[in-house]
Amino acid sequence: MRRPKVGRMVLATCVGSFFILIFYFQSNLKPAANQDSGRTSWRGKSRRSPLQALYDSEQLELSAVHMMHQGRRELLEEECRTHTRKRRVLIPEDLKHLIVDDQHGLLYCYVPKVACTNWKRVLMVLTGDGRYRDPLQIPANEAHVAGNLRSLSEFSTAEINHRLRTYLKFVFVREPFERLVSAYRNKFTRSYNTAFHKRYGTKIVRRHRADPRAEALDRGDDVSFKEFVHYLVDPQTQREEPFNEHWERVHALCHPCLIHYDVVGKYETLEQDSRYVLQLAGAEAEVRFPTSGKSTRTTGDMAAQFFHNISPFYQRKLYNLYRMDFLLFNYSIPAYLRFR
Ligand SMILES: *[C@@H]1O[C@H](CO)[C@@H](O)[C@H](O)[C@H]1NC(C)=O
Repeated sequence: MRRPKVGRMVLATCVGSFFILIFYFQSNLKPAANQDSGRTSWRGKSRRSPLQALYDSEQLELSAVHMMHQGRRELLEEECRTHTRKRRVLIPEDLKHLIVDDQHGLLYCYVPKVACTNWKRVLMVLTGDGRYRDPLQIPANEAHVAGNLRSLSEFSTAEINHRLRTYLKFVFVREPFERLVSAYRNKFTRSYNTAFHKRYGTKIVRRHRADPRAEALDRGDDVSFKEFVHYLVDPQTQREEPFNEHWERVHALCHPCLIHYDVVGKYETLEQDSRYVLQLAGAEAEVRFPTSGKSTRTTGDMAAQFFHNISPFYQRKLYNLYRMDFLLFNYSIPAYLRFR
């Protein structure tokens, strides 16, 4: 008796996603925000929505920052055209990482290890109705509590379509291997991350270490970067379940070839790009993006060290795995790799 029910659910999902696709792509024929003539009525205030601010570019046209973002958007679109064949249907599941700010008309796709804690904090300030003022007053763990922010996947199809069409959609990305090393360091080299050690570490030791000690098998707390790489490129890993979001590709988390992001922010220019988004949202007076004083952050040099004892064979395999993130966001093959 379970089968037909599941069938109906799948059908319902398909029909639902069909509508998302139809309405959303229709809107892309006329991407400019002027299709919503609500220039003077955005949220009852006499100002433009962030999307209108972006595409009504009279004042912004000459700004170098504005031109740079246009360049990134065009490059992304071009790479999507070149490297993706058929457009897949967008389903609500794809929208889980999109955080909604109805007050300002923003959709933010969060990518772990790319300043996502700070962006979540900022969005909590922006959507909190005055509950928070300073992003840094919000504890990091609080920023990740589900329910503090709303995901686009929780809305109805009509509400999703409306938001995809009229809100400013943005994402922050980072050099893929720097992000990966950052995830490894954070999840596998810190003694407090026991949940990751148990969940992933023990499996990695069991599968990718010759003659593991019983203690290592039990604790999974001493995974080497090489073992982590072997785990990532092992086809069995992704057959079992999707990658954890900390090392999943941006391409798979945020679907940049299906969702047309208006702003592609980069970790490398985090402060400037964050200011740009808050400026478009008209929220500069409400909140400042926290500047990070972190001295432990992963850099390109650090990534080079971690890759030093990865063989060219595995370097290439890993590059192929993350290739779309390199291509879509204009990151070149790191000079320290040896398969070039
Ligand atoms: C892509 O990257 C190159 C090299 O860093 C840079 O010169 C170019 O401006 C970038 N293009 C875009 C569209 O961002």
